[in-house]
Amino acid sequence: MDRIRIVGGNELNGSIPISGAKNAALPLMIASLLTDGTLSLDNVPHLADVEQLTRILGNHGVDYSVNGRREAQGSAYARTMNFTARNIVDTTAPYELVSKMRASFWVIGPLVARMGQARVSLPGGCAIGTRPVDLFIDGLRALGAEIDIDVGYVDARAPKGLIGNRYVFPKVSVGATHVLMMAATLAKGETVLENAAREPEVVNLAECLNAMGAKVSGAGTPTIVIDGVAALSGATHPVIPDRIETGTYAMAVAMTGGDVILEGARADLLEAALEAIEQAGTEVIRLDNGIRVRRKGGVIRPVDITTAPFPGFPTDLQAQFMGLMTRAQGRSHITETIFENRFMHVQELARLGARITLAGQTAIVDGVERLRGAPVMATDLRASVSLVIGGLAAEGETIVNRIYHLDRGFERLEEKLSGCGAIVERLSE
Ligand code: UD1
Repeated sequence: MDRIRIVGGNELNGSIPISGAKNAALPLMIASLLTDGTLSLDNVPHLADVEQLTRILGNHGVDYSVNGRREAQGSAYARTMNFTARNIVDTTAPYELVSKMRASFWVIGPLVARMGQARVSLPGGCAIGTRPVDLFIDGLRALGAEIDIDVGYVDARAPKGLIGNRYVFPKVSVGATHVLMMAATLAKGETVLENAAREPEVVNLAECLNAMGAKVSGAGTPTIVIDGVAALSGATHPVIPDRIETGTYAMAVAMTGGDVILEGARADLLEAALEAIEQAGTEVIRLDNGIRVRRKGGVIRPVDITTAPFPGFPTDLQAQFMGLMTRAQGRSHITETIFENRFMHVQELARLGARITLAGQTAIVDGVERLRGAPVMATDLRASVSLVIGGLAAEGETIVNRIYHLDRGFERLEEKLSGCGAIVERLSE
């Protein structure tokens, strides 16, 4: 199994190209199930989760190509991928495929909307919290689907099609917002989604659906209104830059010091995180087509953060910010409100010498003067990259094991960091 070896202590200087967002690419790919036309997506990152979803879509009968070819040639950046769901041959998403990635559950929305039926295994994915699917089920029922749970599968049926309705999410959910928005595009009449997720990935999906002929308005606000249409067509649409990758590298620079341009990054997608980085003592310069992050000398100041749905501080940057705070001059409090059990990185950061105490949903981090390299274990996607941030500042060698988690969400991480002067390499076995 591959590992990553890091020798800490170097500043980061140079530039890092920011990839397309994994969390935007996945729902956009799933939207291809809504039409028999071709959906052409630009700037799709080359990641294990994208490959996995391609296999799942293939199982439903979706044809795909990468940069105009049937199979990927090498692993070029910013690929254009075409998806054509002309004939959906299977409306079942089996456990073997869905268990590897939670987002694949989201096929349930387009399948039931277009085909009138879907049988989708209950999801797997990162082991962070319980991650139920009650909102998806309640929401699809509100649109008229009949739903049964049958030995690990959700069976959804709407033989006469879905019917527009008003649905108020009892809790903000990115995935359930994506799914109900997609499903409602083909429902009869108007759907109003209240307390919807406002994440940039929801806006990216809504724009794509509109390019396909849907009538979606209000995405990016808590109220999304969808006027159902009879059919959608193909379209071409770009994936937005990855705000989590952007924030991760910005925090890495804040940690090591240096001066890096994050090419193609969009500051408006992660203002809450950028403000926290600035408060911690790093300069953030918003450029026309990127963000420059700079810390030359000075200390890392402690900053308290609390995760919240967009536009709040993203839970997907919580572990990385904790990594940064392990070297702050003083005490910080990091509170996680989105997922239970999203503190698995705490014990691994402690192996590098961090001093962190857990009090319920809050981690109290007492900054230390130095971290020391050690073997550590990646436990989930975002946790694993916090260990990379720790390793970049630690004295000596850090080996991060189980990096398949990293490969799910970070494109060419070792190449991007070593291009800026870090000593980071992949050890393949
Ligand atoms: C998405 C992101 C993930 C990010 C998360 C929160 C993707 C592929 N993943 O995950 O990286 O960490 O948003 O920003 O985009 N919940 C329920 N019932 C449901 C659905 C969700 O209780 O039916 C709860 C979850 O357990 C969690 C909260 O709602 O506590 C938010 O989860 P949600 O926004 O749905 O996360 P995902 O869409 O799975």
